[in-house]
Amino acid sequence: MQIHHTISGLRAALRGAGRVAFVPTMGNLHEGHVALMRQARGHGNVVAASIFVNRLQFRPGEDFEKYPRTFEADCAKLSEAGVDHLFAPDEGEMYPEVQTYAVEPPPDQAGVLDGEFRPGHFRGVATVVMKLFAVVQPQAALFGKKDFQQLMIIRNMVRQFALPIEIVPGETVRAPDGLALSSRNGYLTAAQRAEAPRLYRAISRIVSGIRAGNRDFAALEAEALADLRAHDWSPDYIAVRNSLDLQLPAAHESGLVVLGAARLESTRLIDNLEV
Ligand code: PAF
Repeated sequence: MQIHHTISGLRAALRGAGRVAFVPTMGNLHEGHVALMRQARGHGNVVAASIFVNRLQFRPGEDFEKYPRTFEADCAKLSEAGVDHLFAPDEGEMYPEVQTYAVEPPPDQAGVLDGEFRPGHFRGVATVVMKLFAVVQPQAALFGKKDFQQLMIIRNMVRQFALPIEIVPGETVRAPDGLALSSRNGYLTAAQRAEAPRLYRAISRIVSGIRAGNRDFAALEAEALADLRAHDWSPDYIAVRNSLDLQLPAAHESGLVVLGAARLESTRLIDNLEV
């Protein structure tokens, strides 16, 4: 695997390389990322990944500073997964001047759910992804479904800007007890780790309820929130939404997704399941 720290170096290496399948990450890679890298192989003859902890998508007081930087271990995993090129810029390379131009996703997509609790987050994500797309110029890019709202916003951004990039979703990878793999799971104490799958179970129960014919989404959400609160979680939201646009569904609608975000002390976990 070739490692590039500069835009010019990466561009020179990719010139004439063929169809590039790209997986952007913030590092601290786990099996979910590795699955995306392997999946990428089916979407391009060259697989490129990036590692960049993007300050723009963190709010003051969030975990930008403590976000785990595990470059050596990440490189080993990427090589093992067959990645050809890694783009790993520092902040000076990505943001040599203050990034005053930005991609502003619409509030009905970026101001709800995670966007309500992390204002500006998706503006930061969309801006860095647009910039990474401009740098890498991939023909395909892969994003995990665990960040369901992020995937939807990127997909809509690519469509509206007519970017010639196929956006490919990757399934959420879970631990045997159901917990969705996430770089932030590493913040959990042993006791919190044992408690963490409750979020997945709460979302799963809603999915089962809907599949069994219960269309009282508000009641299903309220029950899940109560269960989490009873076990010392601080939920931000549990929400049944339309899976295409994340808007509130009518009772008869199909194509639903159940999303949740909740904190176990200072660690915020998110998860979702399509119905
Ligand atoms: O999902 C992530 O890891 C990040 O939001 C992304 C897409 C790499 C942008 O920084």
